[in-house]
Amino acid sequence: MAPLLDICHALDPVAFARERLDFQPDPNQALVLASRSKQVILNCTRQWGKSTLTAAQAVFTAWHEPESLILVMSPTERQSGELVRKAAAFLSRLGVKRRGDGGNKISLLLPNRSRIVGLPGNEAGDRGFSGVRLLLVDEASRVDEDLYLAMLPVLAVSGGDIWLISTPFGRRGFFYRAWIEGGPGWQRVKVPATECPRIRPENLARGPHRHGRPLVPTGVSLRIRRQR
Ligand SMILES: Nc1ncnc2c1ncn2[C@@H]1O[C@H](COP(=O)(O)OP(=O)(O)OP(=O)(O)O)[C@@H](O)[C@H]1O
Ligand SMILES: [Mg+2]
Repeated sequence: MAPLLDICHALDPVAFARERLDFQPDPNQALVLASRSKQVILNCTRQWGKSTLTAAQAVFTAWHEPESLILVMSPTERQSGELVRKAAAFLSRLGVKRRGDGGNKISLLLPNRSRIVGLPGNEAGDRGFSGVRLLLVDEASRVDEDLYLAMLPVLAVSGGDIWLISTPFGRRGFFYRAWIEGGPGWQRVKVPATECPRIRPENLARGPHRHGRPLVPTGVSLRIRRQR
């Protein structure tokens, strides 16, 4: 790879995703990748591509920042493993063979010593990680709040980024509160099922209905905005 192209890809996550990871983000996904925000909330429909997009972001960061640590937290080990598996697939497109970090069951070690580590849901808070560059909380609305709070100090010293990724699960919990009252530091992205280009309207129509309407949020445009 020509050094100039490397530099371009380091500066442009969307081009990196398209040209190096062979992931063609849709326009809304590209906006998220390009945003470079330190705190992101993806409040999006099932199957929008949240985990895939997040895996691409994890690989972008790990690839361009040597020795960086990216943590993936989720309600269960299986879900963390699923996101890390997507990251491994992207890494293979970069020619990186799958290799663990030797200390964590769900982990990827890159040639530049960066690591992507998936945490088992039940003990995420007490693993003694430090210097975390990026904390990804997948299915955040279902992650145990105490574990989430126990994990936050890992960002306090490193000043790392955080992404909360989920479909909503009622008006409760840290995901909901960050969305509603988290303040202007969060970049908020909302995509209902009706606006996901990969969900066909006829398939939506097949799903559960209430009062003649599909049980999905409708009429809400993608918003990438900062709360006032
Ligand atoms: N830009 C894209 N182009 C093509 N396929 C995509 C794109 N984004 C996501 N997908 C596909 O959509 C499907 C769902 O992706 P993914 O599992 O990342 O979504 P999700 O929002 O995390 O889903 P869930 O809510 O079930 O966790 C996968 O098959 C994935 O490969
Ligand atoms: Mg997912």
